[in-house]
This record gives sequence, C-alpha cells and structure tokens, in this order.
Amino acid sequence: MDRIVVQGGRPLSGTIPIAGAKNACLPLMPATLLTEEPLTLTNVPRLSDIVTMGRLLESLGVEVSPMRDGKVMALSSHALTGHLADYEIVRQMRASNLVLGPLLARAGHAVVSLPGGCAIGARPMDIHVTALEAMGAKIELRDGYLHAAAPGGLKGAEIELRFPSVGATENTLMAAALAKGTTVIRNAAREPEIRDLADCLIKMGADIEGAGTPEIVISGVDRLHGATHAVLPDRIELGTYMLAPAIAGGSVELIGGRLDLLGAFCEKLDAAEIDVVPTENGLRVTRRNGRVAAVDVVTEVFPGFPTDLQAQMMALMCTADGVSVLEERIFENRFMHAPELVRMGAQIEVHGGVATVTGVERLKGAPVMATDLRASVSLILAGLAAEGETVVHRVYHLDRGYERVEEKLGACGAQIERVSE
Ligand code: UD1
Repeated sequence: MDRIVVQGGRPLSGTIPIAGAKNACLPLMPATLLTEEPLTLTNVPRLSDIVTMGRLLESLGVEVSPMRDGKVMALSSHALTGHLADYEIVRQMRASNLVLGPLLARAGHAVVSLPGGCAIGARPMDIHVTALEAMGAKIELRDGYLHAAAPGGLKGAEIELRFPSVGATENTLMAAALAKGTTVIRNAAREPEIRDLADCLIKMGADIEGAGTPEIVISGVDRLHGATHAVLPDRIELGTYMLAPAIAGGSVELIGGRLDLLGAFCEKLDAAEIDVVPTENGLRVTRRNGRVAAVDVVTEVFPGFPTDLQAQMMALMCTADGVSVLEERIFENRFMHAPELVRMGAQIEVHGGVATVTGVERLKGAPVMATDLRASVSLILAGLAAEGETVVHRVYHLDRGYERVEEKLGACGAQIERVSE
C-alpha cells in the first residue's frame, strides 16, 4: 500500500492546474444511460472513483472507451445488458447510486445496492427513493438492494426534497428528463455540479430550467441524443490547493480556478487574512506575513462552506492565531482527521458535530493514517507546514479524488514523495 512522505517547512511558489471535478463527472457518466447515442466527456479527471464508475457502467453494458489524451472519455449505451449495481461496487463508492434514476427512466427497472454505513456517517437513500416514488416508481428494499420498477414509465410530479441532497437532486433530474410530463423539484441542491449536469442534459435534448436554484422545472422529452460536454473544474481540489500556500506560506496560482465556484469558502479565507486575487488564468493565493487569523466555520449546502473542505480548513486552523470553532452540519462523524492532527501536535477538542481548535505555533511531523478522501489530504496539508517528516498511510483514499497530488505540490517546491510498499 502506498504512503506519502512530506518534509515540512517549505513555503510554496508556482502554479497548480485544477482538474475536472470528480463530483461533476460522477453524475455525468451515468447520464449516458439515458441515450442510445454516444456521450463524450472532456476534462475528465484521472481518479480511481472515475475508474470505478466506468466499471459499474460496463457491467450494465455501456461501452466505455479508454481515456484519450488522459482527459476525454467516450461512453455509449446503445445496448444495455444489465440493470444491477452490485454491492461490491456500491460499497466502494456511494456515487454508484447515481445509476438508479437514469436506469429506471431508460430501462423501466433497476436494482441498486444500498451503500450501507460509510466512514463519514450513515448516508441513507430515502430522499432519492421518495422522489422517484412520487414519479410513479415502485421501490422495495430486499436483501440489501433497492428493487425499483416503473413498468408504465415515469411520470412528471411536484417533488419537495426534505433536504437538498446533491445525489437525490441528480437522480431525480436524470429520471425526469425522460419522464412523461413536467417535474418540479423544490428544495433542490444548488451545488455547481447540478448546473453542470443540467447543462449536459440540455445539450442532449432535455428541457430543464432553474438548475442551480432551489426550484428546477423539467419537461420530459421522448428521447435524448448524444453530446459532447466538458466537465466543470473541481472546486474541492481548487479549495484544497488554495489552502496549501495558506498553510505552508508562499504564493500559488491555481490555473482554471474560479471565484464563483467557491461561495463562502473565499470569505473565510479573507477573514483568515489570506489574499485571493483573480488572475488571467485563474486565482492567486498568497499568505500574508505572520500567523493566519482564527475563523469559525459552519458547513452548509452551497453556497455555504462545503463539508468537503472542512478537514483541510481544520488543518489551516491548527496553526492559526486564536481559537476557531468548526461545526459540521452535513455529515455526522466527519472529524476522523482530528485525532490524527492531534498526533501532529494540534490542540483540538471534539464534542458531537463541533470541533474547537486552539492554534499552536507549529505542528510536528508524525506518522498518520488517512481515514477518508478529504481527511487524507488535510494530513498532507498539515505536513507541509509541520516541522520534520509526516508519513500519511492508506493513501488509496487520496487517489479516489486527487490526481497526482505529489506532482502538483512538488512542482511548487513542496518536498513530498509517494513511496510504494
Ligand atoms: C455529494 C458529494 C460529496 C459531498 C456531499 C455534500 C458527489 C459524488 N459526492 O454526496 O462529496 O460531501 O454531496 O456536499 O457529488 N441524505 C439522506 N438521505 C438521502 C440522501 C442524503 O439523509 O436520501 C443525507 C446524507 O446522509 C448526508 C446529507 O444528506 O448527511 C448530504 O448528502 P448528499 O447531499 O446526498 O450527498 P451525496 O450526494 O452523497
């Protein structure tokens, strides 16, 4: 199993290109199930989660071409042969559940394993199920699998989500694109990835208005056709690398970075006294002299502070001047990075969904364990500023969501390497 070794204490300087968004690409890939014609995605990130989604689609009969130039993926669902998302794949990646809506719409039935508990909380699927049932699907839970059928086809409906779940909004949007009549999704998720999926579906012939707002109106069409779509830049990768010079010192330009993708995250960086300036090609982030200021953070749905940047922000707050309170409201149990940061000398107390971080002058390198995707990168960020060597174990979590992390940070002067065992 690979590990990442970081020698801390070097300020960063250089440029980092931002890849296509994992969380945009994962719903865009199953959108291919909605049409017999080819769907071509460009700016596809090279990540193990994308490979996993490709394997799942192949098991349903989708032809997935190898990535050309590393970034172009062609998908063709002209002959679907399966309708089962097996537990073996779903348990590796919850986003596998994004085949449910499009399979139901295209094939009239789908069997999708429930994801089960994962490291960052229970993550049930009730919101997906309620929305699809409102559209006429019959869904039963048997043997750990959701068995869904819509023999007469899905019908448009007025749906109010009890919480603006990203995945449930995406599943409903894809199902409604081919349903009979008009669907209104209220309290829809507003994350930029929803808009990106809708933009692609519109290119495929769907009739969608309001994506990116809390109310999306979809008028179902009889069929969708092929399209080519460029995946949105990854706002979580962007935010993560914006925090690298904030933590280690120095100045880094994020190529492809956009302020409109960041919502409240940028306001928090400003409050922490980190400079963020738009450039011709993206964003430049510079740490001012002295320690960063402590800021409080509450994770919320977009445009609030993203839960997927909470661990990385905690790494920044570990050496801030003062006390910061980080409250996690999207997932229960998403502070597993805290005890690892404590092993590096951080002062953190966790009570339920609230972590209180008292900034220390300096962290100290230590062997630490990655527990999930974002936790693992937060430990690398902490290692950049720590005195001595930090060894991050179990980096397979990292490879799910960050491509070439050691190359990207290494190009900015970080002393970081991957060691294979
Ligand atoms: C997506 C992102 C993930 C991010 C999350 C929140 C992808 C592939 N993943 O995950 O990186 O952390 O949004 O921004 O895009 N919930 C229910 N019932 C449901 C669905 C969700 O209770 O039917 C709860 C979940 O347990 C969780 C919260 O709602 O506590 C948010 O989940 P959701 O927005 O659905 O996240 P995902 O789409 O799984």
